[in-house]
Amino acid sequence: MNNRVTEILKTKYPLIQAPMNWLTDSKLVSAVSNAGGLGSFGPNAGRDSLEQDSMTVMRNQIREAQRLTDNPFAMTVGLNPQGEDQTYAHKILTNALAENVKYFIVGGEPDASIYREIKDTGAILIARSYNPTPKEAKLQEQLGADIIVATGYDEGGVIPTKGNGTFTTIPRIVDAVSVPVMAAGGITDVRGIRAAAALGAEGFFIGSSFIVTKESRAAMNAKQKIIDSTVEDMVLVAPQQRSIRNAKMDELAKQFYDGSHDTFIKTRKMGGTKTAMLDGKLADGEISINTGIDQITDIPSVKQLIQRFMQDYQ
Ligand SMILES: Cc1cc2nc3c(=O)[nH]c(=O)nc-3n(C[C@H](O)[C@H](O)[C@H](O)COP(=O)(O)O)c2cc1C
Repeated sequence: MNNRVTEILKTKYPLIQAPMNWLTDSKLVSAVSNAGGLGSFGPNAGRDSLEQDSMTVMRNQIREAQRLTDNPFAMTVGLNPQGEDQTYAHKILTNALAENVKYFIVGGEPDASIYREIKDTGAILIARSYNPTPKEAKLQEQLGADIIVATGYDEGGVIPTKGNGTFTTIPRIVDAVSVPVMAAGGITDVRGIRAAAALGAEGFFIGSSFIVTKESRAAMNAKQKIIDSTVEDMVLVAPQQRSIRNAKMDELAKQFYDGSHDTFIKTRKMGGTKTAMLDGKLADGEISINTGIDQITDIPSVKQLIQRFMQDYQ
């Protein structure tokens, strides 16, 4: 069943596997694209350590994905706040364009120069604000975004600091722009898909659920921990970060509620999502996941997961 999103993405389904830093490597990305969605690479894709050269690994990951699928996939370009240096974003873009990547997820406040660079090549630009507002969505559309992602506080990863939920964010963004809007944040089964569609979303941008798929490189004990946990097992450790609890996260949560302002930096110093989620050291780091965790209950293949989500789009 085609709609505006499948026409723009040239995919079978209006579904993007969202970028998730260390976890979204060529195996997962190509499996998603082969199953009818659009796979996407996050930063550090395929890397095992910070010592590896990120641009070399990125090029190799893109080539590997091109070997594993003939279907399109996307690269993520994360922007710094407006006015700050965007050299690293330009470097990612140049590197990916040289490898013939034709789809870009651009995260952060829109930057005219980056948007122009992407649009001038004829590539597809999917815009994702970290704190979506109608004003920013209008600017993204004006600068040439083909699709806009409406992300709510329910998401996994770095969460919107304004605290607006997914189901209040979607209609705000849908009403502000005429390009199609994809919903992100807390969607973990077909009921979430249907609810987001009822609010006007024409596509779905899904991260957390893909962490526990067979093809995901997340550590097996981290996958099992996610399956065994519920929303009651999570704590907010910073305005933009929640995690499944362990002694270290409980300590950070306590510091945060006592007024500390550096708990997010502390999660980064502990290795961010790599330590527990990739390396499997569950006691030593965060497990970042969405508030739909109760519905994540097994380890499906990517194809099975996409079929579950997309049962109304056959
Ligand atoms: C473990 C994890 C890591 C993430 N890393 C990134 C990232 O590096 N860059 C980014 O733009 N978004 C990142 N995200 C956010 C996702 O791209 C996406 O917005 C989110 O997962 C969608 O909501 P959901 O998790 O509720 O499905 C991450 C999400 C998770 C769960």
